[in-house]
Amino acid sequence: MSLMDGFGRKIDYLRLSVTDRCDFRCVYCMSENPTFLRRDDVLTLEELSTIARAFTELGVERIRLTGGEPLVRTDLPVLVRKLGKLPGLKDLSMTTNGSRLTKFADVLAGNGLQRLNISLDTLEADRFAEVTRKGNLERVLAGIDSATKAGFERVKLNAVIMKGQNDHEVLDLVNFARDKGCDISFIEEMPLGAIEEERRDNTLCTSDEVRALIEPQYPLTASSERTGGPARYYKMADSDIRIGFISPHSHNFCHECNRVRVTVKGELLLCLGNENSVDLKQVLRDNDGDVEAVKAAVIKAMKVKPEKHLFGHEDGTQILRFMSLTGG
Ligand code: GTP
Ligand code: 5AD
Ligand code: SF4
Repeated sequence: MSLMDGFGRKIDYLRLSVTDRCDFRCVYCMSENPTFLRRDDVLTLEELSTIARAFTELGVERIRLTGGEPLVRTDLPVLVRKLGKLPGLKDLSMTTNGSRLTKFADVLAGNGLQRLNISLDTLEADRFAEVTRKGNLERVLAGIDSATKAGFERVKLNAVIMKGQNDHEVLDLVNFARDKGCDISFIEEMPLGAIEEERRDNTLCTSDEVRALIEPQYPLTASSERTGGPARYYKMADSDIRIGFISPHSHNFCHECNRVRVTVKGELLLCLGNENSVDLKQVLRDNDGDVEAVKAAVIKAMKVKPEKHLFGHEDGTQILRFMSLTGG
């Protein structure tokens, strides 16, 4: 069984958000004073597992857990253990801000989490505090060390590069990743939520601009390796790490989209940059948590998956959902 959308794309990747909460308030992701969902509106562990099972029974082979910050949910290792046992699931991964990894890295690796992506936009403590509004760089660096020792197949760092803010740190970030033996992806900021006009027009740093900052030091060779996501990877001559570029603005990748998202309030989002959604929580709660009902709703939803994202830079459309609710 495999899921196909109306444009003939095979959907085999689910991004499952486990919380809208976070201990940081990154400027491109959340407002400074967010309102969070009520407990009743949030999917239970059981409901998250049922949704994951429905997708794997429909042919989904990769699941990435996202948030908010997944590790503010203290039952997360239990969810990881459950999902790790799903027949048909080949790749279980998570994206985290790294703040709680000293505590959780070992148990996550032990419970079957295979790959971990950790956000790291800057290596300067003051700037880190500015970008994340609440984050502490030292804790995240310690978290990265715990992750690299915990035995994951791969640890990747994610950096959103913003003009005039952290673009002077691109090489430092590459050197840091080389030292730690981590892959690193550079991401073009996407305008989600009520992001101010000023940010939208002035901070975008394209992947080609980022690459031009790396090449004088490290000539890069395009690699055909993919991780099932939108990143295009490059290699350096003298290191095994991969340098990824995620370029929603400058190199649109929607024609090869293989994914959908489920938010923690149970909305099946058919595209990050569109509002089309189907309420799976309602389906679950109307049908006593029946996995078959979820599967039927997912199959039906494939017909309304849009062709591509609509982001402000291309046509002035603004998606009102914040990234923290979407799961990136
Ligand atoms: P793997 O390829 O599985 O390693 O993960 P990833 O790099 O896609 O996942 P991660 O959660 O680390 O996300 C990195 C960035 O890619 C985030 O900014 C995401 O919002 C962005 N991203 C992931 N999937 C999509 C997508 O389908 N569309 C768009 N526009 N951006 C995406
Ligand atoms: N644009 C691009 N990337 C974003 N992330 C969060 N918000 C945005 C945005 N508006 C990144 C985080 C994290 C990943 C899940 O998404 O830095 O690494
Ligand atoms: Fe939290 Fe990640 Fe959003 Fe930052 S980008 S506020 S760390 S969820």
